[in-house]
Amino acid sequence: MLVPLRKILKQSQRGKYALGAFNTHNLEITKGIIQGAVDAHAPIIIQVTESTINYAGLQAITQIIKVIANDSLTKVPIALHLDHGKKFSTVVACIKAGFSSVMIDASALSWKENVKLTKQVVKYAHQRNVLVQAELGHIGKEGVDTRQVILRPEKYLTNPDDAVEFVKLTHIDTLAVAIGNVHGIYKLRHGVPKIHLNRLAKIAQKVKIPFVLHGASGISDKEIKQAIKLGVGIINIDSELRMTFAEAIRKILRVRKQLVDPRAILLSGERAVRERVMRKIKLFGSFNKAK
Ligand code: G3H
Ligand code: 13P
Ligand code: ZN
Repeated sequence: MLVPLRKILKQSQRGKYALGAFNTHNLEITKGIIQGAVDAHAPIIIQVTESTINYAGLQAITQIIKVIANDSLTKVPIALHLDHGKKFSTVVACIKAGFSSVMIDASALSWKENVKLTKQVVKYAHQRNVLVQAELGHIGKEGVDTRQVILRPEKYLTNPDDAVEFVKLTHIDTLAVAIGNVHGIYKLRHGVPKIHLNRLAKIAQKVKIPFVLHGASGISDKEIKQAIKLGVGIINIDSELRMTFAEAIRKILRVRKQLVDPRAILLSGERAVRERVMRKIKLFGSFNKAK
């Protein structure tokens, strides 16, 4: 069932577990994610980026998610979130489409511009009872600066004092932290960078809103568990789902050379996503936490 993020976030904060925030791109990945959550009887966040909106169309992808989430067999709470929104107009469109949470990612802009745009989004979203996530520091993106993030993490990390000031000025609900985490497949193939848990601990001493861990694909189970203890309340997974989806499809096409039915081909990817989501949910502590 589709529910406001506010509701499941409050419960997860009280229960000291993290919510998985899984990126979807199409019908099959959406089905896989939601089936994984149903198998685990867990609350989850399902999220789309601006590139997915450009790919699928906002109404199409939103309807796919809503219809599957609201199916009578889907007896778990699911919150719909905009991931890495860059434009105010996207935020407005997503809120009008029924999202209960949005991220405004102005982390590539100057401090002043980040604060200004984030404040504008918070004002609009809070009037409509929608939560806002923003990013401070810089979480790298594969193919753009992943290598630099791995090699020179310090300048990208979230500064604890800046975080205090940022939260005070903007009134955001959740904060995406840069603690050495990076986005993308690159790290799954070439090694995951060090996660600076001591930096997270310093931020946590001063900032009392839930943190969001982006780029969590490939981060070790041990680091994930420690990060949750230090205040990470939402964990974003995209690349591992893409990888497992693509590998399953590659395999079935290799093994069954005559196969042309798109439903059979894509179902193999959907099943792989379903399993991976279930595994992540166990790690995040949200297994069996659906209320
Ligand atoms: O954090 C971003 C997502 O993992 C991927 O973004 O949908 O723009 O490729 P994208
Ligand atoms: P990964 O692709 O590294 O899992 O990151 C996902 C993410 O942070 C989406 O916002
Ligand atoms: Zn991200």
